[in-house]
Amino acid sequence: MKAKKIVLGVGGGIACYKAVMLASQLTQKGFEVIPFLTPAAQSFVQALSFEGVTQKHAVVDHLQVDERGVSVSLLAAEADAMVIAPATADLIGKMAAGMGNDPVSLAALVAPDLRFFCPAMNDRMWKNPFVQRNVEALEKANWRRIGPENGHLAEGYSAPGRMAEPDRILASILEILHSHSEDS
Ligand SMILES: Cc1cc2nc3c(=O)[nH]c(=O)nc-3n(C[C@H](O)[C@H](O)[C@H](O)COP(=O)(O)O)c2cc1C
Repeated sequence: MKAKKIVLGVGGGIACYKAVMLASQLTQKGFEVIPFLTPAAQSFVQALSFEGVTQKHAVVDHLQVDERGVSVSLLAAEADAMVIAPATADLIGKMAAGMGNDPVSLAALVAPDLRFFCPAMNDRMWKNPFVQRNVEALEKANWRRIGPENGHLAEGYSAPGRMAEPDRILASILEILHSHSEDS
């Protein structure tokens, strides 16, 4: 499989620290990983951590342009795949509403056909009917959902909503990318 470019969109949840691991694991597998961080994500984890493990500049401002004046968020359309981890309730809602006022939701508006999201939130948020409606809307729009899992939450108890572990996210992405490259 030739080296592929993956946009890693990071939302602002406590699972951000696991997204750094995912960025590192994808990079070690030979992918070119471009990190995109929402403003809230930057409150949890510095862009520098993602830049350090991917050796790529992170996109941290949705109004950022390149030297030609082209929106760097919209360049996500040229990637082979987009992965959003963690996908917070807020980010999922914005995506389902077709909004694009942060680097990740803007990139999601032009995401390539291979697109994944990894919800991460507490169990009450996960069960919220508006969140469930938005999750279904994304799935109908060809966003492949990975997780969430039943496990330890930041609240201190075990319940559904925990972001899938980076190993599992990586395995799911590899499986889909592999089957996709066999088809083409
Ligand atoms: C300590 C802390 C942890 C949070 N964890 C989550 C979370 O795991 N999932 C979630 O959906 N929101 C979580 N939130 C709320 C989000 O940070 C908030 O909705 C934010 O606006 C999401 O921004 P985004 O659209 O950039 O993801 C948390 C907030 C705080 C203060």
